[in-house]
Amino acid sequence: MNIRILNSREDLNATAATVIASLLLSKPQAMLGLATGSTPIGIYRHLADMYRKGQVSFAHAYSVNLDEYVGLAPEHPQSYRSFMNEHLFQHIDIPISHTRVPNGDALDLTAECAAHEQAILDHGPVDLQLLGIGHNGHIGFNEPGHSLTGATHVVDLKERTRSANARFFGDIDAVPRQAVTMGVGTILKAKQIMLVAFGAEKADIIRQALTGPVTTECPASLLQCHPDVLILLDQEAGGWFK
Ligand code: GLP
Repeated sequence: MNIRILNSREDLNATAATVIASLLLSKPQAMLGLATGSTPIGIYRHLADMYRKGQVSFAHAYSVNLDEYVGLAPEHPQSYRSFMNEHLFQHIDIPISHTRVPNGDALDLTAECAAHEQAILDHGPVDLQLLGIGHNGHIGFNEPGHSLTGATHVVDLKERTRSANARFFGDIDAVPRQAVTMGVGTILKAKQIMLVAFGAEKADIIRQALTGPVTTECPASLLQCHPDVLILLDQEAGGWFK
């Protein structure tokens, strides 16, 4: 794994955005694996700036998102589809028909999971998968446990994850109890993975994921098995790494 510690959060966002923009310059029709949460917001802001300045185009790119809450319609303000539209898609030139976020409101969630995998097969493989990390080591919504599921599936969210995400909903009772997520197998099929984390509260879990045993109890630790992983950390999240 290639681990880089950046001096500031701004540097980290700019570096991550540059990695994505460079990929698009060399492969305009690349498939991007995208993530939600607080972590990628600054990266998306940088990408939108680069697009406005004519430094990158997404006109031929495809994107596929990691996950979505079950039971939220795409128009729901807290859905990950709304998040992606608000923080990235409406600011750039990617055709919305080239973007896929799982539909957590689908009547047949099994079929929706299969459709998500199929979309990756149709336009993929994913060239670059962007990841954040949950406080418990989850990637996408692959929660720690005795086992993990490889393909896109429906998952029960841990209370820790629901309470961490309650800040977006205002009230923990409003946070859905389930999500659709790419499986760890789906994630590991990406050609390159870029995991980004900042802040002292991520330092412990990052250290465990990168230097601890590879275990389903810390899903991010499975990234140790991937041949091309770039880890971008700020000083707070990566200060332990010398
Ligand atoms: C969410 C998402 C993950 C994200 C993680 C961390 O629950 N499903 O994809 O990486 O939590 O979020 P944040 O970046 O807000 O810390």
